[in-house]
Amino acid sequence: MSKHPRYSLTLLCLALLALLCGCTAPVPVEEPYKEAIVVGFSQVGAESDWRNANTLSMQQAFSASNGYRLIFDDAQQKQEKQITAIRNFIHQGVDYIVLAPTTEKGWDTVLAEAKAAGIPVIIVDRMIEAENDSLFTCWIGSDFLGEGRNAVRWMDSHLEDRPLRIVHLQGNIGSSAQIGRTAGLNEGLSTHPEWELVYRASGDFTQAKGQELVEAVLTQGIDFNVIFSENDNMTYGAIDALKNAGLTPGKDVTIISFDASRHALELVMSGEISYDVECNPLHGPRVENIIQRLESGLESPKLTYVEESAFDAATITPGLLESRGY
Ligand code: AHR
Repeated sequence: MSKHPRYSLTLLCLALLALLCGCTAPVPVEEPYKEAIVVGFSQVGAESDWRNANTLSMQQAFSASNGYRLIFDDAQQKQEKQITAIRNFIHQGVDYIVLAPTTEKGWDTVLAEAKAAGIPVIIVDRMIEAENDSLFTCWIGSDFLGEGRNAVRWMDSHLEDRPLRIVHLQGNIGSSAQIGRTAGLNEGLSTHPEWELVYRASGDFTQAKGQELVEAVLTQGIDFNVIFSENDNMTYGAIDALKNAGLTPGKDVTIISFDASRHALELVMSGEISYDVECNPLHGPRVENIIQRLESGLESPKLTYVEESAFDAATITPGLLESRGY
């Protein structure tokens, strides 16, 4: 519960004034009003369209008109900046801390500090590896391993007629999104001896690095026919690199991507991306709902996986594209 419910100063003054004047006019009934709930949100950064949609969703959910004061911190993909932000939130005495963690490890000390200060911590999007789960109140996010397995199932059923030579663009190493999607692909590689991993490197989920990596692959003359790219922005960079080299994405190279943001779905429709596994960024209302439950003294499930889908040319529709909010 937020810590400082208090009564309206204005109403108090009015009542005092009425008393002093001996006024008989009815004094309005005092209604308790709640101060805004203060939420400190430590965001990973602004590395992708997904991340920007996530930031917007959180800012809209934790607006002043909804009764919140949001303290937003962009960590520029650096864990040390997130740790500093959390310490600042503790120092400011926020009511809740929301953390979208860069990587899974390294949170025990700072979360123990939040716990000692009595501030509930909600983890969103990626997961953390904590020495005990009492260090956070609950988590809501994606099943990243499920996403990776989903992609592998599609590759298995749609690309079985030819040997695959796979270029793997990973997200930032140590993040749940990278760990889960990579583990999914690794399972596929271990059960398909005809699939060959010809290149693997991290593009940190950014478009610029996605392009750089594929340019490096092309310069090295590596033979490949599949790009397994762990997010849409790296995919956009990869597509630019392929086109600049005179190759046709979707024909010369099959592209598997993650996020399923609107522009990527347009590319699924035009055939440049063959399969895009959804990762839903719209966590603002979900986290807000958790906070409202906690405010009402209710518990929230410790772990909540959001529902997600995936799209290829056979399943994408103009209506779906229209309704895509991000
Ligand atoms: O954690 C979610 C991942 O992080 C998204 O796939 C990616 O685009 C983002 O940067």
